[in-house]
Amino acid sequence: MNNTPDRMHAVTPETRGLVDLVLDYSRRRILSTDTPLDKPLPEFELRRLAGQTVSEEGMGGERALALFEHVLAPACITTDHPQYLSFIPTAPTKAATAFDLVVSASAVYGGSWLEGSGAVYAENQVLAWLASEFGLPKTAGGVFVQGGTLGNLSALVAARETARADRGNPAGRWVIVCSAEAHSSVASAARVMDVDVVAVQPGESGVLTGDVVRPALEEYGPAVFAVVATGGSTNFGIVDDIASIAELKTEHSFWLHVDGAYGLAGMLSPLGRPLFAGVEEADSVIVDPHKWLFAPFDACALIYRDPETGRRAHTQHAEYLDTLTETAEWSPSDYAAHLTRRARGLPFWFSLASHGAKAYREAVTASLELAQRIAAEIERRDGLRLVRRPQLSVVVFEKDGWTKEDYARWSARLLDEQRAFVTPSSHNGRPNTRFAILNPLTRFEDLVAILDSME
Ligand SMILES: Cc1ncc(COP(=O)(O)O)c(C=O)c1O
Repeated sequence: MNNTPDRMHAVTPETRGLVDLVLDYSRRRILSTDTPLDKPLPEFELRRLAGQTVSEEGMGGERALALFEHVLAPACITTDHPQYLSFIPTAPTKAATAFDLVVSASAVYGGSWLEGSGAVYAENQVLAWLASEFGLPKTAGGVFVQGGTLGNLSALVAARETARADRGNPAGRWVIVCSAEAHSSVASAARVMDVDVVAVQPGESGVLTGDVVRPALEEYGPAVFAVVATGGSTNFGIVDDIASIAELKTEHSFWLHVDGAYGLAGMLSPLGRPLFAGVEEADSVIVDPHKWLFAPFDACALIYRDPETGRRAHTQHAEYLDTLTETAEWSPSDYAAHLTRRARGLPFWFSLASHGAKAYREAVTASLELAQRIAAEIERRDGLRLVRRPQLSVVVFEKDGWTKEDYARWSARLLDEQRAFVTPSSHNGRPNTRFAILNPLTRFEDLVAILDSME
């Protein structure tokens, strides 16, 4: 065996064999139509089955891949399974998943124009397409970051930098105003930034409106540097009344950020589009391709109305980076809290460029229609109750008399029997459960079978 220091990098029968193995596996997995849901195992069980996997001499690619295929992968829930209906699922297209391999194989550096201009060009075309779908100006732009959490943080950092430049620091602490139903990543961003969050109650419908935001703006005045409207809340898929919040900009000075990590993709469908009126007034928006835009983990499109605000807030300066930062070229690293980056927008670009936007509109429309259809079925059934009418593709419902433990037992049984992954949830202290529907392979009949299992 070749034992020189380049043995892992050189093209040899050993490395060629490893690449073949991995590509064969990937091909099988991507094209499989019956990958089970699978489920987590306790650590002691994995220790028993997999043992110590890292050693001085290595176990060889064949054994390592077999271990992954037969022990480790089955201990990971198949998040793109049509019956994965929890949290916010993922459902990458075959093209996007396959192209993710190409991104790795091409060793593209996605941080700077100098190193990755071709990739950055393609990513920017996708960002420009999204911006135009959202009604943002042609000059809008941004970057694909790791996820919605980093997207929200980066947007809010740019918002605070802009407020600071405009009016200096406030007498007290900086404030973000958002809905009490906003995603936890807004509070997380505030903790990282050491600013306060004022979470206002949106009222029974869950929709945050300008009327409930106004008193907070009046109370906290110029300390409010950003208002976050949610374009599709995680728990319910509720879209805030963005237009009425945007109108407040005529009276108060704040940055409007729209967190559309999950829901903003709904704008691609004529059924969802009207819900998002006002998004065109946003100073920044996010939407996660790894959610309802059918790309693999992990990608969040962060778009600034005025990209210069993002660049001012985030460009890192160092002598060794001068060659990148002292140019007018578009370097994605400059637009968020990161430096080295995978060109993570490319899998989405490839699928969108291949299939065209229309296919995306149809897939999003299908989720919206299926959500309405199963909501009607739930309403029709004795003993089941919709907690709220779905606006997008999350359907939240209760079963009469069920306690938290009943939901937990039922949910565990569904996963144990490999029928579905539907986790318990709650609202205002009342237990419930929810279907988060975005996989075009999810069928009405599958959902009905899950309802039938609630006994
Ligand atoms: C509305 C909303 N915002 C932000 C996030 C965070 O996104 P990520 O998990 O990609 O960090 C989520 C995740 O579900 C979300 O639904």
